[in-house]
Amino acid sequence: MDERLAIDGGKPVRTEPFPVRAPFGERETELLNQAVRSQNLFCHTGGMVKEFERRFAEHYGVPHAAASSSGTAAVHVALGALDLEPGSEVITAPITDAGTIVPIVYQNAIPVFADVDDGCTMDPRDIERCITDRTRAILVVHLFGNACDMDAVMEIARSRGLFVIEDCSQAHRTRYRGRLLGTIGDVAAFSLQQSKHMTTGDGGMTVTARDDLAQRMTLFSDKGWTRKPGWGRRTYAFLAPNYRMTELQGAVGLAQL
Ligand SMILES: Cc1ncc(COP(=O)(O)O)c(C=O)c1O
Repeated sequence: MDERLAIDGGKPVRTEPFPVRAPFGERETELLNQAVRSQNLFCHTGGMVKEFERRFAEHYGVPHAAASSSGTAAVHVALGALDLEPGSEVITAPITDAGTIVPIVYQNAIPVFADVDDGCTMDPRDIERCITDRTRAILVVHLFGNACDMDAVMEIARSRGLFVIEDCSQAHRTRYRGRLLGTIGDVAAFSLQQSKHMTTGDGGMTVTARDDLAQRMTLFSDKGWTRKPGWGRRTYAFLAPNYRMTELQGAVGLAQL
């Protein structure tokens, strides 16, 4: 038997191209029509994004979710929620999308790269080696659907008083020892870009079970604008970007769920 790989002249396993991915169907069209007919595509006055956030959180069994415009935005929202002081070090992965790293730099924090293991996820021993007195958070990346060793990461983080952010952009609905990734650390971010498990074309979602991070998380995607009832005087609470999701993305996201 010829055991050579196809690239080396062996017999190809596939002779046809992979089917074109078609992630959208009737339900997306239905909800998009509904959103457009409502004459309102703004998340704060419409219902799609709010419902998408509510149901995404429910899906992960956490109380809080904040939608945003991309996975990069979702990671930024997670970091913004932590309110790190400038110069903080954030330990993260050297093999990932730039969307993991850019938000760290935008927050005037310093990315510090821990080596990855055979599964292409961060090696807890190297995370430990990277810790200094300026380390404030560990931003783990569950790359290629592979879960980081979260038991070890959480043990390190809890013993050193560090936050843990999970970048779940490539690991939607992935379980680690029975628990969904994104529900183990303090806060988690998901990309909803076209190539991801579920998609709104572009989009992001940040989730947390921590009530103390939830308000800042929501504010951070909306210029820090305290526009919700009960949030006090309407003002800009702190420096933050506008990462609002539109009702169009919200409609598609709901159908995808
Ligand atoms: C691990 C990881 N983090 C962050 C991102 C950024 O997501 P987006 O492209 O939606 O901004 C991606 C996107 O590919 C990703 O794979």
